[in-house]
Amino acid sequence: MRAPGDKSISHRALMFGALSVGETTIEGLLEGEDILSTAAALRQLGADAERQGEGAWRVRGVGVGGFREPPDVLDMGNSGTSARLLSGLVASHAFTSFMTGDASLRRRPMMRVIEPLSRMGARFVSRQGGRLPMAITGAAMMMPIEYRLPVASAQVKSAILLAGLNTPGETTVIEPEPTRDHTERMLEGFGATVRTTTLDDGARAITIVGQPELTGSRHIVVPGDPSSAAFAVVAAAIRPGSDVLVENVGINPTRAGLYVTLRDMGAALSFDNPRVMGGEQVADIHVRGGGLKGVDVPPQRAPSMIDEYPVLAVAAACAEGTTRMQGVAELRAKESDRLASVAAGLEINGVRFEIGADYLNVQGSGGGVSGGGLVTTHLDHRIAMAFLVLGLAAKSPVAVDDGAPIATSFPGFVDLMNGLGARISHG
Ligand code: S3P
Repeated sequence: MRAPGDKSISHRALMFGALSVGETTIEGLLEGEDILSTAAALRQLGADAERQGEGAWRVRGVGVGGFREPPDVLDMGNSGTSARLLSGLVASHAFTSFMTGDASLRRRPMMRVIEPLSRMGARFVSRQGGRLPMAITGAAMMMPIEYRLPVASAQVKSAILLAGLNTPGETTVIEPEPTRDHTERMLEGFGATVRTTTLDDGARAITIVGQPELTGSRHIVVPGDPSSAAFAVVAAAIRPGSDVLVENVGINPTRAGLYVTLRDMGAALSFDNPRVMGGEQVADIHVRGGGLKGVDVPPQRAPSMIDEYPVLAVAAACAEGTTRMQGVAELRAKESDRLASVAAGLEINGVRFEIGADYLNVQGSGGGVSGGGLVTTHLDHRIAMAFLVLGLAAKSPVAVDDGAPIATSFPGFVDLMNGLGARISHG
């Protein structure tokens, strides 16, 4: 099978195309709702983003600093990446934007971008606790800053770097733990100067030189999303006798933590035919089912698999022994409180676990689980997909209360999984 286009890279391809002079063509773009939210916002800001065929898009950019005042509220739907990265982009433009999202996004913390972007000169009026809706008044002349990330977040890092793009001088973000580096890689590809250095304490300092001219006339090929491929890979890993090849998946080490963990658990998993595509490492992931054992997942690995804990919990439920996930408090700030959503889904399907403020220990059955539960998805696509995968190892079917959020990141999920032999039906 083929995984859909990478969500993180798809957002960035559209955004950086919109900031370039000239035309960017994109192949393999994820056409999930989150990406469509980004495309709609970019159109409101004056760029031209047009679909030409399946996954094939053309973007005509306005140049760095060239956005215009959006005529209406920017509705980011369910997409935290759209909200945070675009906050960084509009912060350096001297107009006011209004931003909102769905019930899930309106619960998520925006203070993490409001704080550094305010230091650079933008002004924000938000709901209590830094929640959407909010108004952003950008500054014509932003001030470059050096900022140490208090949470490991590629979205916050990217928001600051994107604000720095239209700021004179050099803006630096220091990240104690490496997070996904698609922004840095792709901005360089578009002609920006981005320097990454390792500091004495092991942290990474990423510096962007402001106000470059980004050149379009580029063709971007988006690799398959390792976070989406994860559902099929875990499905195969928990079913003895399965044999699945997922072609063309991004295996950038800042994203590949789940695959490292599955190998630690004893999964028969290989990266076949490794290659580089558009500055990103790509491979075909081959996995055969059975033989999973519980492991300790170290907290330092969390940023490289932050979206994969729900499906890892499913793998852990079927493994022999206990899997301990530590340093996972950030999961509480995702599309839902993912620690709580995962725990509730495990409980109702007869899986034993222990949960704390920033850890989850799942006791594996060494085989199937009882299942039979109806899982509440809380507008969270990854909760829906993870528990449908658990159904493959369950004696009684597992149901999710709302499958609609799956379309935010993986519109073809049900058909693809059924094509591999699952039986997922709509009630
Ligand atoms: C993303 C970063 C991660 C991830 C999200 C996509 C990105 O969020 O959970 O799905 O594209 O930069 P955080 O940066 O908040 O950890």
